[in-house]
Formats: sequence, structure tokens, C-alpha cells
Amino acid sequence: MNIELASQLHCVRCGGEVETTCGDCGPEAPLELRPPLEPGSGPALLELFSQRRLSRRGPDRSGVWRYRELIAPGLPEDLIVTRMEGNTGLYEPRHLNAFAGLSSQGKLYLKHEGENPTGSFKDRGMCVGISLAIAEGAKVVACASTGNTSSSLASYAALAGIPGVVFVPAGKISSGKLAQTVAYGARVLEVEGSFDLAMRLVEEASAHFGLGLLNSINPWRVEGQKSICLELLDDLGWEVPDWIVLPSGNLGNISALGKALREAHTLGLIDRLPRVACVQAAGASPFARYVESRAQGETGEFMIEPDPETVATAIRIGAPRSVEKAIRELEHLQGTALSVSDAEILAAKAAVDACGVGCEPASAASIAGLKRLVAAGVIPPDATVAAILTGHLLKDPDTTVGYHDGTLPGIPRPSGLGRQTVEANLDSIGAALSDLL
Ligand code: F0G
Repeated sequence: MNIELASQLHCVRCGGEVETTCGDCGPEAPLELRPPLEPGSGPALLELFSQRRLSRRGPDRSGVWRYRELIAPGLPEDLIVTRMEGNTGLYEPRHLNAFAGLSSQGKLYLKHEGENPTGSFKDRGMCVGISLAIAEGAKVVACASTGNTSSSLASYAALAGIPGVVFVPAGKISSGKLAQTVAYGARVLEVEGSFDLAMRLVEEASAHFGLGLLNSINPWRVEGQKSICLELLDDLGWEVPDWIVLPSGNLGNISALGKALREAHTLGLIDRLPRVACVQAAGASPFARYVESRAQGETGEFMIEPDPETVATAIRIGAPRSVEKAIRELEHLQGTALSVSDAEILAAKAAVDACGVGCEPASAASIAGLKRLVAAGVIPPDATVAAILTGHLLKDPDTTVGYHDGTLPGIPRPSGLGRQTVEANLDSIGAALSDLL
């Protein structure tokens, strides 16, 4: 298919325009797409984006394709694959402020990306990745995944009628995610080893067998994922929060967030930039360690984590693929990175769940990280903060029930009754409810 897309592919290292890989910087150099950005076109774009909120047409109703001039300009609308993704809730549960250490002047917004069609933020990049893979003639699409990307790929590949293949670490993805991926009909290849091994294999297999690779090293995935930030800013009336906090694993999401902010700033959609914080799980925190060592003036190499481990299986990643892009965005946004323990992640998850909002474990790393940064005086208690909740509570039912039952190794049982057995009579029920009545 011969389509004229307006975005150009560039090398992130030297900035030069490239066809497939950078001849000067080598095949390892990361690439990014650059849509044409006309400074001064901001007001007209804002008008267009808000008009589309009133439209009933699929691409306009999608919280990704609504922003298509900044995502895949020039893509004919009949090639758009969409499940009306995005349009996720922005919550402000006031009682989370106290948990996070924010004062009553502080504002904490939760952007719940778990409300996407397959229950995670991955749908935003995936609808764009699939649309472009098909437009460019892919016959089979593939990814490696800790479970959410695979669920998303499986759904969108099925919708578009193209076979999908996913490489997952055997026994290391949650039951909810495995169920989705299998149900949507993707070919699931379980790899004895970590996500990092699965990632290496899918890259080799894609090059060898000509599969359309849909991990976030595919620059179109990043373009779609920018819409989390665009929609968040849109929800906030294009007022910029002081901080945006998000969980990080493979570092695609921070790369997309930073790129969206730079482009929105260039276009004049926003008049300042927020600071950002990437939160990793302590057992899988090579990026946090690297950022901390750079902050202390060390100039060492990035060290992968050979044996990552965390209860937050979505971010159980030791060799993230988008380190260069993520570092560039953090420098531009005066960002930081930190790690939190599994116990902190689960306590934060319980707090988010108890607000009635709920999220999967990895998502709660953002709130655990926020709590740390407020306690350390990095984020002021009266700041306005947006935390990205990346996945839905039902993604990992085993961890959630195990936490409340007190059966997770090394994690104390939370106070408060989760569930209990009652006898089938009113006396027993009355006894179980005595503190409420
Ligand atoms: N939160 C959730 C729920 C995730 O699934 C992921 C990544 C992240 C955070 C981290 O985002 O990798 O862009 O830094 N999940 C990928 C997957 C790896 O395969 O589903 P990142």
C-alpha cells in the first residue's frame, strides 16, 4: 500500500532523518517519528479536538485518534483500527492525599488507564501500531510481554483480522492477562526465562520471519501512547500539573509522555512543562539506579538487572529497551526516578483500591513513589500531581486476593477483614457484622 504519512523517521542520537536504521549511528540507535509541528497552530488544534468530542464517528470518539494530527497525520481514516480506546477517567479521591502525604491544598489526580478496552494503557499505542503495521503490509504481528501488551495485541489483531504471536515469560504473567491473550486468539509462545529473554527472542524472530514487531521500540506505538498525556492535559483544560508520576519498566511510557509534552509545548498547547517521576519496583530497578548514579555525578554505563523480581509482574523487567529516550526526556523535564519495595507497592494499591478506583499492582508503584517523594521533600505537599494508573484491578486477581488473605510471602496481612466464612444463619451473619450495626 502506498500511503503518504506526514511524520518523518529520525535517529534519536544524531537527529538525522532515516529510512529504516541510522547509517551513521548504527542499527542499535533508537528511532522516533516526528510529526510536522507548526508553532502557532495550537488554538486551531484545540478547537478541532473539542469539536471531535461531540462527534459520533469512531476515530473522533477514540481518545487516541481524536488527536490524530499529532499521532499519525496523513493516515487515511479507513485504515484506522479502533476500539474507541482512551477516554479514561480522571479521579480526584481526596482521601488519597493523606496516604500520599499531600496537604489539603495539594491536588492528586488519578488518570485511570485501566479503563481502556483491554484494561491497560497499552491499547493507546497498540491501536496505532496495528493500524500502521497493516497499512505497511505486515502479515503477522508479534510482541514480547509481561501480559498487558500481549492482551492488547491479541485484541487488536483479532479485531483487524491479522494473526498475532506473543512471547511471554512462562509462569510469570498474571492469570487475568493470560486469559485475555488466549481468549482473543493470539498464538502464545511461553519462554522459559524472563521478559528480557522473550524480548530478545521476539526481535530475532521478527527479523528472521518478517513479523511486524509491536513492542514500544516500534516508534508508532510511542506516537499512540502520547495520547495519555494529551488526554490528561485536555481533561485538565490544558493546565499543567506540577508533577506527573508513573510506573516504569521497559520505559516506553515515559518516552511517550516526554515526547508528548515537548510537542505540546512547541505547539503552544501548554505554556510550561511539568516535572516527572518514574517509579520502579526495587527488585527490577536498573533505571532508577542509573538515574540516581548520574545525579551523583557518576558517568558509568547502564547496568541491566540480570534477575529481576517483584510482585508487580508487569514491570518485572531488567533490561529495558528505551533507556536512551527515557534519559533524554527526564533531562528535559528535570525528572527523577526511584524505586519502591513490593510492600510499599501493595500498601499503595490497597489505598487506591479502597478509594473505589482500584488498579493492578504495577500501577500502584506510582502512588508509592509519590509518597516517598513527598516524604523526602522532593514534591511539596501542596503540589498538583497527576499519577498514571496503568492497569485495571482485575488484571491480577491472585495477588489482590492473596494480599487480603495474608498469603503473599514476606508481605504482612493488612488490617481489616477481607473475607470470612459464615454459617448459614442470622446469628452468624449478625456476629460478622456486629461492628457495622
Ligand atoms: N504498568 C503496567 C501495568 C504495565 O503493563 C507496564 C508495562 C508498565 C507499567 C511499564 O511501562 O514498560 O512503558 O515503562 N508492561 C509491558 C507489557 C512491559 O508487556 O505489558 P513501560
